[in-house]
Amino acid sequence: MGRFDGRVAVITGSARGMGKQMALRFAREGADIVLNDLREEQLKAAAQEIKALGRKAVYVVADISTADGAKKLIDAAVNSFGKVDILVNNAGIVARGTLLETTEEEWNSVLAVDLKGVFLCTQAAAKHMIEKKYGKIINIASVAGIGSIAGPLAYAAAKAGVVQMTKTCARELGRYNINVNCIAPGRIITDMTYIGRTPEEVEKSIEAAKKASALKRAGSPDDVANVALFLASDESSFVSGQVIPCDGGRMDRM
Ligand code: NAI
Repeated sequence: MGRFDGRVAVITGSARGMGKQMALRFAREGADIVLNDLREEQLKAAAQEIKALGRKAVYVVADISTADGAKKLIDAAVNSFGKVDILVNNAGIVARGTLLETTEEEWNSVLAVDLKGVFLCTQAAAKHMIEKKYGKIINIASVAGIGSIAGPLAYAAAKAGVVQMTKTCARELGRYNINVNCIAPGRIITDMTYIGRTPEEVEKSIEAAKKASALKRAGSPDDVANVALFLASDESSFVSGQVIPCDGGRMDRM
C-alpha cells in the first residue's frame, strides 16, 4: 500500500531535475503520473521509468506558459485518468540578470513560464478538483522569491508572485477541500544550476550556498521531493497557504 494509491499527479516540467524526481517518488508510492515538458525525448524516457515501476504514465508535450498548453495538459490528465488529485507547478526557467541587466524579453519570458504558467495550470486543474472536492496543489517557488538571494530580478519577482498566488489560491480553494502550498528551494543541484553560469561561477555559487546554510551542503532533487510528498499526501490535510523553505536552513533567512 502506497500513500498515493489511486491518486493522479500532474507534474509540470518533469522531463528532468526536480520534476522528474518528484514524478518517480510519487509513482513509487502508488500514483499514476501525467508528465509534462517541452523536451519530448526526455519525457518519453521518464514515462518509461514510471511504467517500469508498475504505474501508469502519460506524457504531454506542452508549453505551460500558454492557455492552450495548460488546457492540453489538464485535459490529457482528465481524459486519461478521469481526475487530477495532485498538481505540482514545477516547470521553470531562470534568467540571472540584475535590475540593470534584465531585458524586456527576459522579463517577459521568465514571468510567462514561472508565474503565468502557475496561474494557467492552477486555474485549469482547480475546475476539476472542485468537482471532486479534493486537491493538492504544490507550487515550486524559490528562496529567491522570499528575499534570500540577491541578483536575478525577473526570477525573484516571478517566484515572489508564486508565493503570493499560493496564499490567495489557498483562501479561494480551501472550501473545496483543496490544499495549496509552496516549496521554496534553496540551491539544489540540477541542470538549472549550470544555466547562465561559467563553471567557475557554478562552483562559487554552490560554495556560497553551502556556507549560507546551517546544514553546510547544497540540496538534491530528493530533498525537495521529500517535502512535496508530504504536501501531496493526506498527512498535510490541515496545512494550506504555507511556504516551506527547503534550503538546508539558510541562515540569511533566519
Ligand atoms: P530544470 O531546468 O532541470 O527543470 C525545469 C524543467 O522545466 C525543464 O525540463 C524544462 O524543459 C521545463 N520547462 C521550462 N519551460 C517550460 C514550459 N514553458 N512548459 C513546460 N515545461 C517547461 O530545473 P530544476 O532545477 O529541476 O527546477 C525545477 C523548479 O525548481 C523550477 O521552477 C525552478 O525555478 C525551481 N528552483 C530551482 C532551484 C535550483 O537550485 N535548481 C532553486 C529554487 C527553485
